[in-house]
Amino acid sequence: MKTVYIYKSFERFWHWTQAFLIFFLALTGFEVHGSFSFFGYENAVIFHSYAAYALIVVIVFAIFWHFTTGEWKQYIPTTKFLKAQLDFYILGIFRNSPHPTKKTVLSKLNPLQRLTYLELKIMVIPVMVISGLFYMFYRYTSGDNIGGLDIESLETVALIHTAGAYALMAFVVVHVYLITTGHSILTNLKAMMTGYEDVEDDDENNNEEENNNEEENKDDNNNNNEKEKVENEKH
Ligand code: HEM
Repeated sequence: MKTVYIYKSFERFWHWTQAFLIFFLALTGFEVHGSFSFFGYENAVIFHSYAAYALIVVIVFAIFWHFTTGEWKQYIPTTKFLKAQLDFYILGIFRNSPHPTKKTVLSKLNPLQRLTYLELKIMVIPVMVISGLFYMFYRYTSGDNIGGLDIESLETVALIHTAGAYALMAFVVVHVYLITTGHSILTNLKAMMTGYEDVEDDDENNNEEENNNEEENKDDNNNNNEKEKVENEKH
């Protein structure tokens, strides 16, 4: 085992802010929906709007971070070990079988996580933001109608937004259960709080990455040699 810095500070900030905001949006959203009373309907509507704007700001920064750091590549879906990962969660975990995939800095997510998180990022969250904005501007800026977008009724928007909210809640329940399935119950939670996690060092994935890195280094060296040659020829 070796300790690696796996979750960068922005990543942890973004993860926890997003988690808090989604929790708060669910709390206020389901109050607006009429599921229970906590803040009072009017306050719930106002708080939901503020939290929604905050979430949009966090999402914009997160998109920027993912693309500038190259971390978006972590979410490229793969079917390699997908079945093994599923089998592990369904059966292996109860038989103390080893984890089928190993976490590394360059590959933090198992194939099931890649698929789930990608789907959240490109489907569920955009659907929530877009339907929420439709909802917001239909109600608050144009009174009975939304001029430019010409939506006749909020029914479909409300249905989609509520279905998305249920999907997110289902995700949260499964997510909270799965984070307890690391090497110990708290391993994954601690890693997302501190950034550091103990990972196995002599595994196939690491070797694969090291090989990839070696290939990259070789390419870099070749490029540098080419550059040097050109420079020398100039002089
Ligand atoms: C940026 C994202 C979001 C925006 C812009 C947004 C906006 C809105 C708006 C304007 C409403 C209507 C409030 C009213 O009736 O006055 C609403 C309702 C609601 N929102 Fe959101 N929301 C967002 C994200 C979320 C999230 C993440 C959840 C849950 C996890 C959620 C759950 C709900 C629920 C359950 C309702 C009640 C739907 C109904 O009964 O028709 N929202 N949202």
